Amino acid sequence: MTKQDAIRPQSGSGEGPPRGGPRHVAIIMDGNGRWAQARGKPRLFGHQAGGRRVREIVECCPEFGVEYLTVFAFSTENWKRTQAEVAGLMTLFKRYIVKEATALRDNGVRVRFIGDRDRLEPKLVEMMHRLEVLTAGNEALHLTIAINYGGRDEVARATRRLARDVKNGRLDPEDVDAETLARYLDTYVLPDPDLVIRTSGEARISNFLLWQSAYAEYEFVDTLWPDFTREIFAEILAGYSRRERRFGAVSG
Ligand code: IPE
Ligand code: IPE
Ligand code: MG
Repeated sequence: MTKQDAIRPQSGSGEGPPRGGPRHVAIIMDGNGRWAQARGKPRLFGHQAGGRRVREIVECCPEFGVEYLTVFAFSTENWKRTQAEVAGLMTLFKRYIVKEATALRDNGVRVRFIGDRDRLEPKLVEMMHRLEVLTAGNEALHLTIAINYGGRDEVARATRRLARDVKNGRLDPEDVDAETLARYLDTYVLPDPDLVIRTSGEARISNFLLWQSAYAEYEFVDTLWPDFTREIFAEILAGYSRRERRFGAVSG
């Protein structure tokens, strides 16, 4: 066991990352709109191109030793965009599910969705659920797609459920600690992300995995998401392996 493995918090199950690479990578896929605008095209054209990148990155994860990939597709704040863009994105999510379902199943990818489903159209919610069921037996890669996801909203929803359990006597308030709260989050079955990547040159997290990223490494790259390639991904993963994560301890 390496020193890095020894101090890794045991927030998930299974072994540590192979070859010192991250076990769980989360990506804020940003820059689709600017990519399209630079080509004189509508923003939705960029979102389409972005969708194709998801496929490429999903495909290379097992080979790169990444067991968990979590991607930010639509935030709780993205409803502020024009109705046309929001509707276009929802259509793209449905199209992605239809087009990719078989390949995801056959390639051993287990898909989960996080975020508040209550505001999504029932048809999309049903498709999301069916894809989760279809791929439930897979374990080559755990792909989590965040739709209508916001870190603060997630913690608020978790707290609401926790408060209900206190009210109905299932939980003693004195027993509530960080681990208890984590069990109420959308991500309760996932290990914390080791590495969070954001594309498009913005150095902020925009409400993504606030709780879970407490000790994540961050990598901000200028590349716009539709230009993100497996080569760039490989380079970032190699850079991660050279970092030392201390989790509050002292190196020695
Ligand atoms: C990210 O790309 C995708 C979503 C937020 C849905 P953007 O649409 O934010 O692209 P930019 O940041 O405007 O270039
Ligand atoms: C974050 O990107 C959300 C997703 C990538 C889905 P945004 O483009 O919405 O974030 P801001 O507005 O630049 O912070
Ligand atoms: Mg953006």
